[in-house]
Amino acid sequence: MTNLATTTVAEIATQHPLSTRVFARHSVDFCCGGHEPLAETCRAKGLDLDRVIQEIEAEINSSQGDQARWDLVPITELIEHIVDTYHSPLLEELAGIETMARKVHRVHGDKDQVMFDGILKTFLAVRADIEPHLKTEEETLFPMILEGKTPDEVLDSIEDDHKKLGQLLATMRSLTKDFFVPAEACNTWRALLVGLKTLEADLHRHIHLENHILHPRARQPCA
Ligand SMILES: [Fe+2]
Ligand SMILES: [Fe+2]
Repeated sequence: MTNLATTTVAEIATQHPLSTRVFARHSVDFCCGGHEPLAETCRAKGLDLDRVIQEIEAEINSSQGDQARWDLVPITELIEHIVDTYHSPLLEELAGIETMARKVHRVHGDKDQVMFDGILKTFLAVRADIEPHLKTEEETLFPMILEGKTPDEVLDSIEDDHKKLGQLLATMRSLTKDFFVPAEACNTWRALLVGLKTLEADLHRHIHLENHILHPRARQPCA
């Protein structure tokens, strides 16, 4: 196995897809960031490097989960996987989460006005950004990639969108105190937090596949 300590987080996530579970557990950014070696990332976040490596090795050695090496499949298959697994279910999920976010805001908003206003406002910003983003990818970017002609500016602008989404997700995590479910939370409140946490995990994996696997291949179509 490669020396994990000196490998970047993004590269580990690409070569060992199950490592993303460990990164998600410790809030290590593997999608918009992830360009530092693991040892440096752990130092900056105050994480025990040896323990993180042990966790990654345990995930890699477990036989469950999506272990597909998306960096090794044909690009058409990778794009199909992104659309089927991440794009198609997302629009429906967003509609469901918005209904819950509005209800929880209406019913419980006065318990913590700053937090509930922030959750709703941040979620609406995520939704407003994602819908046109997916459309641009499906109607403009992916056809360009399949033709082998993608201007760098198009990829740069999509990556800027990812960065902005990553910042909004980080704001959501901090507003909800890591999606903490308080004892007083009713079922909708609980389901909202679970939905937001799942949305974050799915978007991190989705953006990682695009930023670190799809886009580098689009920038060097012959590679
Ligand atoms: Fe996408
Ligand atoms: Fe994207």
